[in-house]
Amino acid sequence: MSYRDTYAAWQADPEGFWMEAARKIDWDQPPSRAFFDQGPAGEWFADGMVNACWNAVDRHVEAGRGDQLAIIHDSPITRSYRGVTYRELRDRVASLAGALRAKGVGKGDRVIIYMPMVPEALEAMLACSRIGAIHSVVFGGFAAHELAVRIDDCTAKAIIAASCGLEPGRVVHYKPLLDRAIEEAKHKPEFCVILQREQEVAKLTPGRDHDWHSFQYGVEPAECVPVEGNHPHYILYTSGTTGQPKGVVRHTAGHIVALNWTMKNIYGIDAGEVFWAASDVGWVVGHSYICYGPLLAGATTIVFEGKPVGTPDPGIFGRIIQNHRVKVFFTAPTAIRAVKREDPDCTYIRDYNLKSLKAVFLAGERADPATVQWVERHLDVPVIDHWWQTETGWPIAANPFGIETLPVKHGSPGVPMPGYDVQVLDEGGQPVPRGTLGAVTVKLPLPPGTLPTLWNAEERFRKAYLTTFPGYYETGDAGYIDEDGYLYIMARTDDVINVAGHRLSTGAMEEVLAAHPAVAECAVIGVTDSLKGQAPLGLLCLKKGTDMPNAQVVAEVVGMVRDRIGPVAAFRTACVVDRLPKTRSGKILRATMVKIADGEAFKTPATIDDPAILDEIAMALRAAGYPPSVA
Ligand code: COA
Ligand code: AMP
Repeated sequence: MSYRDTYAAWQADPEGFWMEAARKIDWDQPPSRAFFDQGPAGEWFADGMVNACWNAVDRHVEAGRGDQLAIIHDSPITRSYRGVTYRELRDRVASLAGALRAKGVGKGDRVIIYMPMVPEALEAMLACSRIGAIHSVVFGGFAAHELAVRIDDCTAKAIIAASCGLEPGRVVHYKPLLDRAIEEAKHKPEFCVILQREQEVAKLTPGRDHDWHSFQYGVEPAECVPVEGNHPHYILYTSGTTGQPKGVVRHTAGHIVALNWTMKNIYGIDAGEVFWAASDVGWVVGHSYICYGPLLAGATTIVFEGKPVGTPDPGIFGRIIQNHRVKVFFTAPTAIRAVKREDPDCTYIRDYNLKSLKAVFLAGERADPATVQWVERHLDVPVIDHWWQTETGWPIAANPFGIETLPVKHGSPGVPMPGYDVQVLDEGGQPVPRGTLGAVTVKLPLPPGTLPTLWNAEERFRKAYLTTFPGYYETGDAGYIDEDGYLYIMARTDDVINVAGHRLSTGAMEEVLAAHPAVAECAVIGVTDSLKGQAPLGLLCLKKGTDMPNAQVVAEVVGMVRDRIGPVAAFRTACVVDRLPKTRSGKILRATMVKIADGEAFKTPATIDDPAILDEIAMALRAAGYPPSVA
């Protein structure tokens, strides 16, 4: 079947389409139907009984794949390599799940996982799934405060962490961050399980912390516990407009049905093949395509602890593809730009034998045509940009490589996938003509595997996604659809920015800056960055009479963002201005400041309170080196 036929088949009979996809999953009790018109936006396979861990692990052992590698851990940072077969994975996960159960963790309990890129991170996720506990993985680049916010929001019963993570040239000390987070949180988890890595052995807190190995010693392994199709599988926090992150909920059955469908139809992966997503388990890409997707498909997944460059050189992607015979490779455009910057002719990667490689997928941020073309030129395989979000859990738009490779249009992440009726709307909620920019929305209901609500925040869910355009899900992205039905994603419509493929909230950073005693008012904007796509830039108005030198205030707020949000915010600079440009109703004109900082033409907004402020801002930005070409 072609893409067109597949999409038409879904349009004609969504129930039949998803029930057919559901037949590829092992059910303890099959669902009576696919869609349930319940909850704020509908639910999928709600009356089926199923276990995600069984489908990702045990069933492959039963089917004779026990000796096949499920996970390959390759760490150029520690210069180590380790494989875990499906049988080993089942036994390790059952053991950890049994130990969690013995400590009273059961169905519906929340468990936070704060771990770097090691196989044990996936094992912890799967152990929770096995007993119906709801995991919430927190990215290792977040600071203690962010961890504390998540502990409180999901009221975690337990935390599974590692003693440390490893960044090039730097050990990330997880344990002190964990201790600080628990101290700061109002809710106290009952216990922690700590994986001691040889690079750093952390001091355990007696009575609260357990060593990963001794914790499991002598316990009865746990079997898979069937859960309802609409049982929350995990919560993943993502950036919104404020400092309070949104807890995206993923229901179990829709998640595994949809991911399983994507592995074959979008990524073209069958059981026994090797799939590599070079992301992190702390992001949605890690949940869907390092952990669950490839394992549901019976493929081998790669857990990569390294960077595109510097570990040790820009050839590392090639080394991994060659040595592990990777068929499909998924990364972020930033990573490619990093390689291109250090090795413009791609000689390091091309030095390896890449004949296993059949496609490269890009996501996480807009893939600029120059980056896509560079990969096409050097690797000679389809390079597929695809667009999705933490909220959807799988691609909204892609080029369905597993069905057929449609002609690639540079600058476009492709066409809508079955399940998504993508509509571009104007401010009044009316569809715009083809080629016209507008808010990108998806007509409800969303397909299986997408978010049914936010954790403990149904009203926020409705307000953030369902209210602006009744009957549609608001993606928060702006873009257009061309005459051939290809989508183009151009910008966010909110204050979320994308730094090196990491989604960050400028609102959260502003909350931190505003807490500095010398800061009267502030704004954070995302300016264009040639490597990371965007970079945050702070604008600070100081309180009258402040005698602290500007440079000191800037240095202190940079330190505060690193300390409160984490190094991942990559907040490195701010400039002091007298006033911020605002509308007459007091809204800060961030988008206009972005244009000034990027050196782009802009129209003075009609609603501006005092147009003269824009000249002051331009002068202050020029003095700080923006736009870079003017500096
Ligand atoms: N744990 C702790 N710290 C982390 C971290 C983690 N898991 N990930 C990143 N950080 C830190 C980095 O060490 C860096 O710290 P520093 O300020 O001390 O240097 C900081 O967060 C910013 O990281 P990053 O924005 O990633 O910049 P970088 O200069 O370290 O690396 C790239 C640049 C392009 C190599 C890197 O961003 C990259 O590989 N990007 C691809 C991103 C990706 O795959 N995203 C997933 C979306 S699909
Ligand atoms: P996250 O939830 O972290 O996956 O970030 C999702 C957001 O990243 C989207 O809403 C977009 O703004 C942006 N994004 C992700 N992939 C793409 C893409 N292929 N093209 C353009 N923007 C993208």
